[in-house]
Amino acid sequence: QQGDYTSILLSSPAPGVTQITLNRPKALNALNSTLFHELNAALRNLSSDESIGAVVLTGSDKAFAAGADIKEMKDKQFAEVYKGDFLAHWTELSSFRKPIIAAVSGYALGGGCELAMMCDIILASPTAVFGQPEINLGVIPGAGGTQRLTHAIGKSRAMELVLTGRNFSAQDASDWGLVSRVVSEGSVVDEAVKVAGKIAGKGKLAVQAAKEGVNSAYELSLAQGLHLERRLFHQLFATNDQKIGMTAFAEKKKAEWTHS
Ligand code: HXC
Repeated sequence: QQGDYTSILLSSPAPGVTQITLNRPKALNALNSTLFHELNAALRNLSSDESIGAVVLTGSDKAFAAGADIKEMKDKQFAEVYKGDFLAHWTELSSFRKPIIAAVSGYALGGGCELAMMCDIILASPTAVFGQPEINLGVIPGAGGTQRLTHAIGKSRAMELVLTGRNFSAQDASDWGLVSRVVSEGSVVDEAVKVAGKIAGKGKLAVQAAKEGVNSAYELSLAQGLHLERRLFHQLFATNDQKIGMTAFAEKKKAEWTHS
């Protein structure tokens, strides 16, 4: 599984779960093109791996990721970033169809905060420090910071954070609904693996439909979203897992999903 990756580590902490650990410790996991190339390749492999039901994405104790690699970015020119659509392939993770849980310790700044926000669930250590400091570099967030942060915590807070570039704490992130919860120090990866393991034990078709449904709440109007939800719900009656799940309940047995 590890392959030739140098900037990420892959491990299997629980049945059905892959953990991806960002691994550029000397640069506080600053995100560069090699790292994204590897992350995208790993996710592509995991997409087609039937045995995997959920993924945990994490960094180190000190940094989930301290942002895009400023040293790699600093000499780029407009024509190059525009023609090459710089950052477009950095957001590939947001179209990954299996649940992905960010376990955030330490810095999640700039692109690091944006990467966490592309995940489906964020769990935070009390040491987590979030922020969109791009304004201090003469730019703005470029991988969803002005959009996903605003959706998650509201315009006024997002505007203040993006315009001032100030960091915010795990507790703030939790109070504002950016993260699902703050766990005790040192336990964020274990907690994320527990959640991922639970999800990996469900029927994969229902999980995929559930993720699609929740994500559509960000994209669609309420009427369109409710319509999509109803259609997804109806579609699941065409699966074996729906029969298996409901029959198991009625017979007081444990459902043995076939993911079909
Ligand atoms: C490149 C980085 C880096 C980054 C840290 N490093 N962040 N290198 N890009 N984003 C490197 C430092 O240069 C240093 O390398 C080493 O990691 C350790 O960092 P220090 O600064 O010495 O650590 P510390 O004093 O503990 O400060 C931690 C920090 C600070 C507060 C997180 O490193 C920092 O402010 N980093 C930049 C945060 C930032 O602005 N992020 C947004 C980037 S823009 P050496 O070689 O000196 O040891 C962005 C755009 C998003 O993300 C676009 C879409 C993806």
